[in-house]
Amino acid sequence: MAQDAIDLLDADHQRVETLFRDYLSAGSDAAAKADLAQIICMELTLHAALEEELFYPAFREATKDEKLVQEARDEHDQAKQLIAQAESTDNLDALVAELQRTVQHHVMEERLQIFPKARSAGLDLAALATRLEARKAELVASLQEA
Ligand SMILES: [Fe+2]
Ligand SMILES: [Fe+2]
Repeated sequence: MAQDAIDLLDADHQRVETLFRDYLSAGSDAAAKADLAQIICMELTLHAALEEELFYPAFREATKDEKLVQEARDEHDQAKQLIAQAESTDNLDALVAELQRTVQHHVMEERLQIFPKARSAGLDLAALATRLEARKAELVASLQEA
């Protein structure tokens, strides 16, 4: 069976969880950690854009749950503030650790509250998956041009 929108979004979450683990395993390899931090920030930026442009508006439309969407957006903003500091920080380990905590908390809210509510609200998750994949391809292409 094809992946629906929630499968796609949670695959992003799992990929980032693995990257955070890789970062911890990189130990004292500063170059590897800098690369991983950059990939983590890029993955999170793409993922947040897809949710904010497509998934959250569809969720809000289907559930009328303004509060959950606002909480989620606030958590995205917290992560974005940390991501904005990643290139200039002199303590990347501390910043990545804080980003990991922020993301873990947010992903848990999505898995426990937002995703189950989206499923029970009858969102068309198959159609949304197609839109997410198309938009992701566009965003990746524009990053590669930059
Ligand atoms: Fe999110
Ligand atoms: Fe998410």
